[in-house]
Amino acid sequence: MKEIGVIILAAGQGKRMKSSLPKVLHPLGGKPLFLYALTTAQRLKPSKVAVIIGHGAEAVRSAYGGDDVEWVTQEQQLGTAHAVLCTKDSFADFSGDILILSGDVPLIQESTLITIINAHRESKAALTLMTACLDAAAGYGRILRDERGEITGIVEERDATSDQRRIREVNAGVYVTSSNFLFTALAGVKNDNHQKEYYLPDIVTVGLSQCKKIATIQVDDPWEMKGINTREEFSLMEKMLQEEINRRWMAAGVTIKDPQATYIEEGVTIGRDTVIGPNTHLCGRTVIGERCRIDGSAYLTDAEVGDEVHLRFSVVLSSCRVERGAIIGPFAHLRPGTSLGRNVHIGNFVETKEAEIGEGTKANHLTYLGDCAIGRDTNIGAGTITCNYDGFNKYRTSIGDRVQVGSDTTLVAPIALGDDVYVATATTVRHDIPAGALVYNERQERVREGWTEQKREKMTGKIK
Ligand code: UD1
Ligand code: CA
Repeated sequence: MKEIGVIILAAGQGKRMKSSLPKVLHPLGGKPLFLYALTTAQRLKPSKVAVIIGHGAEAVRSAYGGDDVEWVTQEQQLGTAHAVLCTKDSFADFSGDILILSGDVPLIQESTLITIINAHRESKAALTLMTACLDAAAGYGRILRDERGEITGIVEERDATSDQRRIREVNAGVYVTSSNFLFTALAGVKNDNHQKEYYLPDIVTVGLSQCKKIATIQVDDPWEMKGINTREEFSLMEKMLQEEINRRWMAAGVTIKDPQATYIEEGVTIGRDTVIGPNTHLCGRTVIGERCRIDGSAYLTDAEVGDEVHLRFSVVLSSCRVERGAIIGPFAHLRPGTSLGRNVHIGNFVETKEAEIGEGTKANHLTYLGDCAIGRDTNIGAGTITCNYDGFNKYRTSIGDRVQVGSDTTLVAPIALGDDVYVATATTVRHDIPAGALVYNERQERVREGWTEQKREKMTGKIK
């Protein structure tokens, strides 16, 4: 079997995006666009992968992270043919077939790539390219054929006559060729077109002028070869991907009340009989257990949620862990480093950060718990604040098991409260409290009878 090498085009700016971020880095389903073509190509186990980068080269390179591809820099974006020509030295000793893909065509399937490679090998053509018939062909290069149906060239939209623009068969931007033919043909490509760019599709006419055989193969599902050039195309594809992901989870036993308003990224997993309400975003590596309820308006990123957890309306969870049976929200914010034990209750307007909270503990109202460890079956009263920051450093709070923290308590960290401590309401705690103790602030309560009436009279000018 002949070797296969892959070239991925990802150097363009993506002018039509009108963005300072290179197009291939814009996320689709939470993942940079070019990684789709790259990971699909890698499933073919190619002996070599070259990615052509230019705009935002460093950022593109680091978005991949791996070291098993060769990065080829195209300093100036003079067109797709020029981009491929930049890989000439990298393929100098390579005698296999080369598969060329665009970084902005994300849905191309491995099976389709295998089909085109096999077709290319069987036909013994110098070049095989993929085409598709689209109802809306705008933006694509059109396939020109003679009266016998043989390909005679490809014309870009900008250079096409109005008759040519009516052609529905388009160039998918997927090519298989030998390195020998490719680099010889590229040398013959000129830039005498509307954009003054070197067009890769022009290797078709160069090949034909050298009497080479050029083959085409039509893709079955035109969606597979959809390229993304504009923000509108991004949003359409995002929607399509989302529908597919949602369908997959529904088929796997998850109830999604409004699939049009549910956004689940590729890396997420969800257990059976979980019910998801509208406007839920599950992002990154989020894991949701079985029989959970997510009421709606939830934004979860890299959250690990156990079975039978109830996320009430409107919660944000980031890089945190929640064990079985916990109830969170409405309107709660679990920030990174939060870890909740079984059956913990976190109620409205409660924020946690780097907080380890033990089984059965409750913090139900208006509270900030930051940089703290709290034991089991403790009750954190309304308006409790861990004062963890003095403007210079962050300090930790530790609270034992079965502690009763009264409402309106401030805990000035670093501080430790032993098991079974009782904090009276409206206490500022500045020192460690031993197990079983009561802590309260000495304050006098004074009452002045008739004070309100006197005040009102004074303010309205009727002084007696
Ligand atoms: C290209 C094809 C068109 C085809 C369509 C399919 C050309 C000239 N046209 O058009 O026939 O129907 O794809 O999606 O090839 N790039 C570089 N360096 C450059 C220019 C582009 O690396 O100098 C990269 C881009 O980052 C992108 C890819 O090549 O990933 C395609 O470029 P783009 O400008 O999007 O080409 P299209 O106009 O879509
Ligand atoms: Ca494109």
